[in-house]
Amino acid sequence: MATAKIMDGKKLAAQLRENFKQRIANLQQNQGLIPGLAVILVGENPASQVYVKNKVLACESVGIHSEKITFDANISEEVLLNKIKELNADPKIHGILVQLPLPPQINENKILAAISINKDVDGFHAENVGLLAQGKPQFISCTPFGVMKMLAAENINVQGLHAVVVGRSNIVGKPMAMLLLNAGATVTVCHSKTQNLHFYTQHADIVIAAVGKANFITADMIKENAVVVDVGINRLENGKLCGDVDFAECSKKAAYISPVPGGVGPMTITMLLENTIISAENSVSK
Ligand code: GUN
Repeated sequence: MATAKIMDGKKLAAQLRENFKQRIANLQQNQGLIPGLAVILVGENPASQVYVKNKVLACESVGIHSEKITFDANISEEVLLNKIKELNADPKIHGILVQLPLPPQINENKILAAISINKDVDGFHAENVGLLAQGKPQFISCTPFGVMKMLAAENINVQGLHAVVVGRSNIVGKPMAMLLLNAGATVTVCHSKTQNLHFYTQHADIVIAAVGKANFITADMIKENAVVVDVGINRLENGKLCGDVDFAECSKKAAYISPVPGGVGPMTITMLLENTIISAENSVSK
């Protein structure tokens, strides 16, 4: 029986952030440029407030300029579109992120489409999604990007492996599947309507769990020596965080497993920082 190697996203994130500081210093010295990120929060969703605060703090920790822009939940679409227009033209800003979800009176697709594709550090604009689908990504959504970095850090070459992505969201499941496919994996995407989910997961060399249900992936659902990456962040009644994977049992069977907390979570914001730096670097090389 295997005891899985822990994929330590927290440690990898810290290493990457050290490297970012150097890239930022180079930009400042050679181009007089400080990367800048604008984060827009509409309304008072408590989870979104925490995410936005953490994004701003992460920027500060590596020396990225950040602007947090907040709006009441009842603002009009037009006000938000005007703000995005302004940020698109602002030379201090290299990345624009609109925290999702948005209130119901605002059309999410219309907002995402208004963000300049060259500042779309979330990679949610349809054109950036299309470039990823064509295998020529400009910005990769942060969570799937972080997962690919975690696999690479363990020298896991996905080419020819069967990867099963459980979840089909625009933020995680779909871009994750595209990235794995681009890297040469054989990809199956499962979701809440999939019949016999365990059949697919049991035949997976890599399982990516992005379901949003605590302890959903159990040990009987995975293959011996599989790679198990847990994208879930669920809060239990006792206040503790837990992933989509039954970590205690799956870690006895998998070859690699990512924990929650300390796995994919820290990598998501780290890749947002990297996308902002890439955008700033591109702004001078274009
Ligand atoms: N809401 C949940 N995850 C995300 C994310 O990665 N980016 C944005 N903008 N909103 C989110």
